[in-house]
Order: sequence, then C-alpha cells, then structure tokens
Amino acid sequence: MSIRTRFILSVVFLLTSLVGMILLVIEKREVQTIFEEQKKKGVLIAENIIQENLEPFLFWDKEGVENNLNKRIDQKLIYVIFYDRDKEPFAANSDIKKYFSIFQKTNLRDDVKPGDFYFDRHDFQPKNDVEPFEILEIEVPIFVEGTTQKWGSVKIGLSLKEMQAEIRKTRLVLLLIGASGFLVGVVGATLLARRITQPIKKLVEATIRISQGDFSQKIHLDSHDEIGELAQSFNKMTAQLLEARKKMEIAQKKLIQAEKLASIGRMSASIAHEIRNPLTSVKLNIQKVGESPHLDEFEREHLALSEEGIRQIEKFIKELLNFARVTELNLEKFSLEQIFEESMKLLGNSVTKKKINLQKEISAELPPVKVDADKIRQVFLNILRNAIEAVEEGGEIKVVMTKDVSQKPPMIKVKITDNGCGIDEKYLETIFEPFFTTKPFGFGLGLANARKIIEQHGGIIKVHSKKGEGACFEILVPIGEEG
Ligand SMILES: Nc1ncnc2c1ncn2[C@@H]1O[C@H](COP(=O)(O)OP(=O)(O)OP(=O)(O)O)[C@@H](O)[C@H]1O
Ligand SMILES: [Mg+2]
Repeated sequence: MSIRTRFILSVVFLLTSLVGMILLVIEKREVQTIFEEQKKKGVLIAENIIQENLEPFLFWDKEGVENNLNKRIDQKLIYVIFYDRDKEPFAANSDIKKYFSIFQKTNLRDDVKPGDFYFDRHDFQPKNDVEPFEILEIEVPIFVEGTTQKWGSVKIGLSLKEMQAEIRKTRLVLLLIGASGFLVGVVGATLLARRITQPIKKLVEATIRISQGDFSQKIHLDSHDEIGELAQSFNKMTAQLLEARKKMEIAQKKLIQAEKLASIGRMSASIAHEIRNPLTSVKLNIQKVGESPHLDEFEREHLALSEEGIRQIEKFIKELLNFARVTELNLEKFSLEQIFEESMKLLGNSVTKKKINLQKEISAELPPVKVDADKIRQVFLNILRNAIEAVEEGGEIKVVMTKDVSQKPPMIKVKITDNGCGIDEKYLETIFEPFFTTKPFGFGLGLANARKIIEQHGGIIKVHSKKGEGACFEILVPIGEEG
C-alpha cells in the first residue's frame, strides 16, 4: 500500500472516530435539552389547566371540570385527570376513563410541596388500529394560595410525537454537519497527502532513473523541510556520482589508450627489428652497385630513387621506435620560452622559406617549469611543423604563453594558432590517434607523440579548429614546485 493511501486511510479513520464521538455527545445533549423543554412545557400546561378549573374543582363541580377538559383535549394533550385529596380520580376527559391503569393511578407522594411535580414516559395505544406512541406523563399537586394543604392533583398525558420529530430533525442536521465535515476532512487529507507525497514521488522517480544509469537527474523542490534537505543531498549525491563516472570514463579511456600504445609499441619494435637488418643489407648492396663505374645515367637515377625510398623507410622506423619507446622523464627546471625558442631555431629555414609571419606574446615573469626539455621541444616541433605545413605562403602563426592559475595545479598555457587549412570537426579527436594522417608523406605520429609526452608530464593538450578557419592547439604544462 502506498504512503499516500496509508496516510489518507489513517486520517479518515481518525476523522471518523473524532467526528462520530463529537456528534454523539452533541446529540445526547440536544435530546436532553429538547426533553427538558418538553417537561417544562408540560408543567406549564398542567398548571394552566389547574388555574382554569380551580373554581369548579373546589366546588366539586365534576361536570363543569369534565366539560372544560373535553373541550381542551387535542392531538398533543391526550389526557387530563383530576385527583381529589384522597388520591381518588375525580374528573377526567371522557376517553381516558376506560384505560384503567392510567385513570386509577396517581403517583405524587404525600409530602409534595408547591412547585414539585412527577413525570414518567410510557407507550400509549388509544385504539387497536393505531400504532402505539410515547407519552410524557406529568402530575402536579393542586394548592390554593394562602393555604399549605394539598387539595388534590392533576395528571396530564402529552404526546411526544412532535418532540420525537424534532429530535429526528436535529439528528439529521447533525448527520449532515458530520458528513460535510467528514467530506472536507477527506478532501483536505487527500490534498495534504498529495503535498507530502509528491516530493517523495519525485525522489523515487529520480532514484529509479538513476538506477537505470541516468545521472543527469536534478530534483527541484521548493520545500525547506526535511524532504527539501533530502532532495538537496540527493542532488549532491547525483552530482558526485556523475563526476565519479566521468572520472572513471576518462580513466578507462586512458587505460585503453595506454594499452593501445603499448601494443602498438610492441608491434612497432618487432616490425622495426625484422625490417632493419634486411634493409641495411639492401642499402649496402645498392651503395655497392652505385660505386660501379659501368652504370649509365638511367641506372644511376633509379638507384638514387631507391636510396631515397630506403631513407624514408629508415626515417619511419626511427619515428616509430621513438614513439613506441617509453622512457622515464628527465625532469629539470627549464624556461618554456627558451625551449620554444630552440624549437623555432630548428624550424627557422621552413619559416623563412614560406615567408610566415610569426607573432609571439609571452607573459613577463613566467616561472620555470619542471620538465623533460628534450621531450617538450619535440612537442613544440611537432605542433609548429604541422602549423607550418598547414598555412599558405605568407601565412600567420601566433604563439601566446601565459600562466593559468585557474587550473589545479597551476599550469603554463601555450597557445599555438595558425590561419591554415583547419581541421574537419569530425577528426578533432582522431588527429591524436597514432597513424592518423591526411598528408601524402605523413606518418600520423606527430600529435600522438605530443599527447603522450604532455600527458606523461601531467599536462593537457587540446585543439580548437574548423575546416578552412585555421587551428589552435592549447598545451598546458603543470608548473610543478614553483620558484
Ligand atoms: N595545424 C594544423 N592544421 C590543419 N591540420 C592539422 C594541423 N595539425 C595537425 N593537423 C591534422 O592532423 C593530422 C595528424 O597530425 P600529425 O602531426 O599527428 O601527423 P602528420 O603531420 O600527418 O604526420 P607526421 O607524423 O609526419 O607529423 C594531420 O595529418 C593533419 O590532417
Ligand atoms: Mg605532423
């Protein structure tokens, strides 16, 4: 059973018990009040009858009294009986005389005082074909003003039909009040239950979605109560889960990358080893043939082409082994600016040849960084060479070096931007994969090597580019122990 149903049922149960109890008490008091009123009214009627008939009664005018009484009897007043001093019936309305048990009996005690009266309730059936109904019987003593002697008494019988109708009406009104109170209570309980359970429902739904792997869940609740706090903790938890998952994914990617690199390394080393020896022998033999004085021009030209091909293969093997080799970093404090300048010097010829406009913006007072200078130089060389290859003649390459303290740990950021051919968006991730190249004589190892070196240093390498709009490589190198 849901919390909501249980809450509503509990409230309904409490409400029913409470409303029922209150209504029962009210009903009892109301019925009591109505009956007391009836009694008072009965006493007044009896006293009134005494006043009307005192004179004929005192003069023993039985006929006069009975005439009066017969005229007075109506639907409410069922009977009136006068008793004398000796408690004997003296006069009564004609109909009642045949009901012996009522007519004969007087109930007043001998020591009654003015104001005292007797009352009783009993059923009465005037005729056989009439349903019996309840009667309130009241008997009051007859005193004459100025004397203390009791002269007799008057007993009247009042029909309680009207009173019972009034009680029924009162009960109906109370029942209606109870029912509307109950209804309002149930509606209120339902709304309250909704208010309480709605946030819980949201929480449950979010938990289910999280269990299905959707960590992007956020619960928006305005309540500042315990449920609101729970939602906040929940949001914190999902954020942490999301973060943990992202970290795990990155770690997993790195692991796959590392495994891939390791297997490429093993494969490259064995291929290089297998090729190197026969290649050396081919190279030596070509050189030997080249030394022969009997060669014509055509043969010399083709031998030179073969030698160039072998040089290419050797270069590739060198690059491959360089990429595959995992060596310990030889960390020392260096100025990145200086390493960059050294790389530029090595590329000076190509820059001049292509009439490239090189711009530099290097922040003053960049701290030295703990790096392996040879390897970082290799990174700059690879990226700068790509930029030089990408730009047209007269193109532009801009280098910006700043300290980035927003990173943890603080890093030095080197941005190398060119206005060359740019990179197709779909290749932005792939360009760092080994052997990805779009160049006819490229090996596709430059950026893979650069990323391997930067990550080995605990840094980050990123690229922003669009096809036809140049490229911007961002290298972040941790500063290490500063100063
Ligand atoms: N600045 C750049 N502008 C445009 N494309 C670039 C740039 N830098 C890299 N690329 C793209 O990324 C690819 C991979 O570059 P990477 O340096 O790894 O290999 P490569 O230059 O093709 O070969 P090599 O191993 O000789 O460097 C390139 O072939 C090129 O398509
Ligand atoms: Mg390259």
